[in-house]
Amino acid sequence: MDKLEKHYKVKNFSDRVALSFTKFLRFLADTFFKKRYGHRAVVLETVAAVPGMVAGMLLHLKSLRKMEDDKGWIKILLDEAANERMHLMTFIEVAKPTFIERAIIMIAQFIFILMYLFIYLISPRTAHRIVGYFEEEAVISYTDYLNELESGKIIDQPAPDIAINYWNLPLHATLKDVVRVIRDDEAGHRDVNHEFANILDERKKKSQVTKNNTESITNKENLN
Ligand SMILES: [Fe+2]
Ligand SMILES: [Fe+2]
Repeated sequence: MDKLEKHYKVKNFSDRVALSFTKFLRFLADTFFKKRYGHRAVVLETVAAVPGMVAGMLLHLKSLRKMEDDKGWIKILLDEAANERMHLMTFIEVAKPTFIERAIIMIAQFIFILMYLFIYLISPRTAHRIVGYFEEEAVISYTDYLNELESGKIIDQPAPDIAINYWNLPLHATLKDVVRVIRDDEAGHRDVNHEFANILDERKKKSQVTKNNTESITNKENLN
């Protein structure tokens, strides 16, 4: 396995839900796109740019409501959304979506934005875990894409200007170089979102311990 590919092992029910949801969507994507990697990237990147914006917005509103610092999370999430949108702006130069794909993009955005908002409101840690698992799959898909480009099954082509400027690539860079830097971005998002889910888990455990301690002190006081 490529060193870049990592898998966060399922540890609880929430992780199981996140992984099953991801595998289901992966199955749909594999069935629909097969090896049409450029088209796959265009459609999936329209979805990938949603979670960071939704989570960033919700944390922004929470920070205002609770008058609490966000510990830098909002910027990280909004940067993730902006980075994913640049993936889309790049791949739109490589593959133009078909009419059906455009229709899927419209429907998928409508469904996914509501679904992710709902999941984040119920369980932010599950929502971050889902993105962590999505990004694991993204790394795998971009590795497959790169393998096809390297073996010549998919013809390489000059990197789009927008990608050369955004990632500061050499002027002679090709699609292979672009796929590599995008895959690195996805690996970064994967690690950040798994880490966010872990931090939320820890916070929950700590607050549970504090709650239990407070309850036992109260019980002792009542007995005395
Ligand atoms: Fe992406
Ligand atoms: Fe991504």
